[in-house]
Order: sequence, then structure tokens, then C-alpha cells
Amino acid sequence: MDLTRLVRSPRALPRWAVASLVANIGIVVTGGLVRLTGSGLGCPTWPRCTDESFVSHPELGLHGAIEFGNRMLTFVLIVIAVLTFVSAALYRDPDRLTRGGRRRDLFWLAGVLALGIPAQGVVGGVTVLTDLNPYLVGLHLLLSMVLISLAVWLVRLSRHLTARSVSPALAVLPWVTLALLWVTVVIGTVLTGSGPHAGDADVPRNGLSPVLLTHVHTAAVYATGAGTLACVVLLRSRAALLLLAVEGVQAGIGAAQYHLGLPIGLVLLHLLGASMATGGRARRGRSGRRSRPGAAGRVDEAAQQHHRRTAYAGPIRGVRDDHGEQPDSDREQGHRGGADRSTSRSQVKALTYADVTEVGGVRSQVCLRSLSQRRA
Ligand code: HEM
Repeated sequence: MDLTRLVRSPRALPRWAVASLVANIGIVVTGGLVRLTGSGLGCPTWPRCTDESFVSHPELGLHGAIEFGNRMLTFVLIVIAVLTFVSAALYRDPDRLTRGGRRRDLFWLAGVLALGIPAQGVVGGVTVLTDLNPYLVGLHLLLSMVLISLAVWLVRLSRHLTARSVSPALAVLPWVTLALLWVTVVIGTVLTGSGPHAGDADVPRNGLSPVLLTHVHTAAVYATGAGTLACVVLLRSRAALLLLAVEGVQAGIGAAQYHLGLPIGLVLLHLLGASMATGGRARRGRSGRRSRPGAAGRVDEAAQQHHRRTAYAGPIRGVRDDHGEQPDSDREQGHRGGADRSTSRSQVKALTYADVTEVGGVRSQVCLRSLSQRRA
């Protein structure tokens, strides 16, 4: 069996990206289990489990086994992250003409994702060394949420899901909603810091009022829900509709856990729902559309035809010349100066969107037309 296919084949990267996403959501849930079973100090120190030993031993009981088990999962995540990174480094995009099809964006994204895992290991370790300071526990969770968002982004890029062009006013909407969701999540972690599930019986809480924080958390949930609903209605996005459903279920679980005195099972489900919503929201940041391999050529044709019709002076980003080559000036300027001096950055961006997203279709021409109208 050729093991290099595991990271080299064209389908390897999307699969590893999904594996990274699942692994990061998984460790949020197992980390939650550590906290909710009161096993946070099951291994009382770090990086060793005890002063004498790197591994847990029977005297530490079930708590020791749970905490140590969660520490070991870090290594599984590291293996997945490294394989994801290698397959991103080896990935060649058939639609990219420059740099042999290498994708710098995927390389860096997978690199940051890979470095995030050991960094989280250190934050988790410091959390143990500070006897589970509630703010550090919250930070540890939030960093995992960031990694989940990055993993979702990697999945989208590796599967060629790109942005759909919408008006600038509407394009702001998903970002506002994303910000509201993060406010909800941050307040949720502070709320947890005031609640009973500290990770160990003797750990002090942050001293804030859980009732007040629950009200603030709920207000942020309403605002997030309103933003998501606006995305559904104004952007006509099915992804936003799905996200709204996740948020609805998540809100139901949140309300139930609050009224039932925070039973462990519901708190764990709430944590899983928060991970899924964060991932979903990152996905909604740009509404997805899959560009088909080879479709770039068709876009290029449409763009070139229009280019000729409107006598557009500068080369268009990503448009090949008649021999299928990228224009020299375009290559030299690294795409930045792909337009003549009278063309603004946003106009170039509109062209870029047209190139990549609405493959060979109506919208690319609309974009180009609006450019020529503005130029006229
Ligand atoms: C979109 C909806 C929601 C999201 C994304 C969300 C997110 C979160 C997050 C990230 C946490 C921190 C979890 C942890 O640190 O383990 C949390 C905690 C909490 N949330 Fe929510 N939440 C939502 C809705 C609600 C609603 C509607 C309520 C109802 C009152 C609620 C009640 C709580 C409570 C009581 C906690 C503290 C749990 C504990 O002490 O362990 N949540 N939430």
C-alpha cells in the first residue's frame, strides 16, 4: 500500500481538513467531560502527571485516568494536524497557473492549525498549574473554538467553496452575526466560570452573578438569532437556515440546563452545540459555492470577451492570454496591479470575485458590466 497517497492524492486534503475539524470538536467535548466529572486536577501537575511520573497511576483513581486520557488525545490531534499540514503543503490546485498550483493560503492555514494544537497543550498545562483558574479554563475553550473555525475555513477552501458576490451592505451581515455569536460564546464561558462545574471541588469561582450573566448570555443569543434570521431572509442562504436551526436547539438545551440545575449530560450537549454553531458561523461568514475543476477557463473566456468589448486597458486578474498564459504584468505584479491606474481596489476585487465564484455564468458578466459602467 502506498502510504504517501494518504497525504498526496487530490482528495487527501479535504479529508484531512474534515478529520481536523472532527478532532477539534471531539477534544472540546472530552475536555468538557474532564471538567464536568470534576477530573480537572486528576493529574495534579504538568507536564508530568505527578511530580514522580509522566503517566497516571491507580492511586489517582478514575479522575486521574480521565484527565490523563484527555492529555493523551492531544497526541492524536497532533498526528492529524501534521498529516493535514503535509497534505496542504503537497496540494496542487489544477485551476492555479502560478507557482505550480501551490496554495499558500492552504499551507499557512493548515500550519497555524497544526501549531495551535501544541499551543493549546501548553495553555491546558498552565490551567492545571494555576489550579484551574476559571478565566484560563474559559480561554482554553475559546482557543479551541478558534481552531474549530480555522478547521472549517480549511474545509471550505480545500473543497473549493468560495464566496458568493453580494452587495457590500449585505456582505457585512454575516460578519456582524459572527461577531454576535462570539460575544455569546465568550459570555457563556464567563458564565461557566461563575457556575458549579469548576473541574474540581476545591476550585474558587470567578465570583460573578450566574443569574445576571445568564440574562446577558440570553440577550446575546437573541441578537445572534436575529442576525442569523436576517442572513436567511436577505441572503437567502440555506446554510444560515441550518445554522438558525442549530442555534434554536442550542438555545433550548441552554434553557433546559439552566432550569434543571445544570445536569452534566445537558451541559455537555450545550458545549457540543456551541462548537457546532461556532463552526457553522465561520462557514456562514461567506456563503458557499463550489467551483468546479476546469471552470476557471470558462470564466476566463467570459471575462476576456467582455474585456475586448469594453476595451479595458489593464489585464484582468487570473485571465489568461490567448495562449493560455497569465499576462506577464499580472504575474510580475503578483495580481495586485492587475488593473490600470483608474481602476480602484474594490473594482479589482469585484473582478476577482467574478473570476472565482460565479463560474462561467451570468454573475461574472454582471460584475464586469458594472465595472465598465463605473469606468464610463
Ligand atoms: C446560540 C445559542 C447559544 C450558544 C452558542 C451558547 C454558548 C455557550 C458556551 C460556549 C458556554 C460555555 C460552555 C463551557 O464553558 O463549558 C455556555 C454556557 C452556558 N450557557 Fe449557553 N449558549 C447558547 C444559548 C444559551 C441559552 C438560551 C441559555 C439559557 C438560559 C444558555 C445557558 C447557559 C448556561 C447556564 C451556561 C453555563 C453552563 C455551566 O455553568 O457549565 N445558553 N453557552
